[in-house]
Amino acid sequence: MAIIVKDLVFTLHTRNSTYQMKVDDQKTLLHTYYGARADETDFSYLVEFLDRGFCGNVPGTEAERVYSLDYLLQEYSTVGSGDYRASALCAELGSGTCDCRLIFDSYEIREEKYSLPGLPSMFDSEREKARTLEIVLKDAKEAFYVHLLYGVFEEHDLITRAVRIENKMDHEAVVSRAMSLGVDFPRNDFEFIHFHGKHMGERQLERSPMVHGGIDIRSTRGASSHQQNPFVILAEKVTTERQGQCYGFSLLYSGGFHVRAEVDPFDQTRLVMGIDDEDFRWVLEPGSSFTTPEAIMCFSESGFEALSHSLHDAVTEHLIRSPWKKKRRPMLVNSWEAAYFDFNKEKLLTLGKEAAEVGLDMLVLDDGWFGKRDTDTSGLGDWFVNEEKIGGTLGQLSEEIHAMGLSFGLWIEPEMVSEDSDLYRAHPDWAISVPGREPIRGRQQLVLDMTRDDVVAYLQERLVSIMDSAKIEYIKWDMNRSLAAGYSRLLPKERQGEVRHRFVLGVYRLLEKLVSRYPDLLIEGCCGGGGRYDMGMMHYCPQIWCSDNTDAIERLRLQYGTSFAYPLSTISAHVSACPNHQNGRLTPFKTRGICAMQGTFGYELDLSKLEEAEKEQVREQTDFYKKHFALFQYGRYYRLNSPLENRDHTAWEYADPEKKEAIVSVVFTDLHANPKIDTLLLRGLDPNRRYKVWLDGEEQGSYTGTALTRAGIRLPIPKENYDAYQFYLKEEV
Ligand code: DGJ
Repeated sequence: MAIIVKDLVFTLHTRNSTYQMKVDDQKTLLHTYYGARADETDFSYLVEFLDRGFCGNVPGTEAERVYSLDYLLQEYSTVGSGDYRASALCAELGSGTCDCRLIFDSYEIREEKYSLPGLPSMFDSEREKARTLEIVLKDAKEAFYVHLLYGVFEEHDLITRAVRIENKMDHEAVVSRAMSLGVDFPRNDFEFIHFHGKHMGERQLERSPMVHGGIDIRSTRGASSHQQNPFVILAEKVTTERQGQCYGFSLLYSGGFHVRAEVDPFDQTRLVMGIDDEDFRWVLEPGSSFTTPEAIMCFSESGFEALSHSLHDAVTEHLIRSPWKKKRRPMLVNSWEAAYFDFNKEKLLTLGKEAAEVGLDMLVLDDGWFGKRDTDTSGLGDWFVNEEKIGGTLGQLSEEIHAMGLSFGLWIEPEMVSEDSDLYRAHPDWAISVPGREPIRGRQQLVLDMTRDDVVAYLQERLVSIMDSAKIEYIKWDMNRSLAAGYSRLLPKERQGEVRHRFVLGVYRLLEKLVSRYPDLLIEGCCGGGGRYDMGMMHYCPQIWCSDNTDAIERLRLQYGTSFAYPLSTISAHVSACPNHQNGRLTPFKTRGICAMQGTFGYELDLSKLEEAEKEQVREQTDFYKKHFALFQYGRYYRLNSPLENRDHTAWEYADPEKKEAIVSVVFTDLHANPKIDTLLLRGLDPNRRYKVWLDGEEQGSYTGTALTRAGIRLPIPKENYDAYQFYLKEEV
């Protein structure tokens, strides 16, 4: 039983974790436990009521002076209640100030997972259903309700959270912070791990000690951003890949977010996570409600590896809807780094012909095929095919590509508009700008007001008309700038604080329309690379372009960081030209192939410029990937070491969940004269079975699982800068 309620003690069990809350005498919903699987003991026996000094007392408890929300561990704290830590909710209920104090009202258990209309959320699968616990809190004075939703996925050690805020008063309420989750821990021996970055350098793991006062990470950019990612980990100091406790928290949201983790004066830790509250102000009319995005919490008692495996499985099984999650992803060639804006029909057909010859599955026509778009300064919004440039209709081009045995994909950037476009000339008011002010431009483009139904309807009509005009199996959905001021001309002044969230809802609305009309369409998310790499997008896009940085060596850190929360099948990675277009680095072709196989595999270069020997390597790579796609796509992923700690090489492994075979990749990042001999301890093998090992296709010998996991395999000595190798292991029967 995943949810057990006894005397208003709520205990949620997953396979390896327990989470508990309790309604106390003052009707406060206390948080009493989150950690390794325990029993249903009422853990509030650990609470000590003390006069803490300068801590306000809840009305009715003043005489004893010991009951204060300033130090009690709570489930959903509020600003104005005498709790001075980071609160989950800031709600103004009519007085003009945030003075809400929540007390318990009721609860309900349901046999299926709740859903959140209009927002991405985890869902029940045929194999595993989550039960829902809904706890309703109410303001101590007003008819203002907060519904805390919990979904328990036992097998994945995962609990989902969301909050519905309901105004049943006869006057409006204003919510200026509504976090999706708050968790209090009675301990402070954690370290905080987050994934910071920049354009072309996303998701770099950083681990720091927790501090009194707190750590804030956020995106205020209207997208989850390159600079921070809405996934963080609280880990014990001793936690490594394979030992120690850790908690992963992820927000299923593609807009601005805020995570605050703080240690209070009594060495307790609080973490809150939700929509960015910097410019957020939601007006709740009487009778209306507001629903936060979903957040998930995942626990591992045995290090980051197990945490990642639970998250990878849960995302694949319960979040990604696309049927593509069960099909081999197309190995594609993308026209961007092959030609940028400089293409015509002949070039595209040549690229297609070369792609077919080396065994690829798809040609993707990137930016530049529509409107007046020969540079990035014009044309966005004019989603009409430039037939002169592509030498006919899109239908004809796609047919010719299909005739080569390839499928066809197309790039779009729906949320944007260029000032030099027919759309902008016709509807300047559709672009986000504050009246009377010069708008902030990014990549010389403006952002469309996705809060508006007419804008979403226009985009829907255009996209459907393009999709229906040609055979298109894949769409790359890009977004190439951040929002600046969030302003919509259709909303009154007092509702402008809603724009950023309404914008994201508009994006989800449009994505939902596409997904439901074209259920077999493969949509790849993109935001100038990985600026919107989050679990919100994964509900619509089973894969996301990981970064505009295609350098294989920089990708090692980037893909390493990304792998902590996100399945490798979501990471779009391509082999690109040498010298690399972003940093000028020279790497062997083979290394680029091995690094691109750390995700959904493809190419991003002019195939016609390759030497014959390189083309032969492409054929080998595509053969290898095709043959082993099941391992790459559904295998258990193991980080064998960290590119942040090991200067000499980075290694990773995909192992078949049945432990029958595995692929181990190693990329050397330094060279040494008189080198040492390195070994690698493998993972995910059965100690009692015997495996035959091949290195780059050459048989090396046969070893037991025990030998390979305890003593390891011997690494070759690298022969050149950034040399790379692939081992293949197969069970001997
Ligand atoms: C940014 C993307 O990340 C690139 O791959 C490419 O699609 C360009 N935009 C096109 O403008």
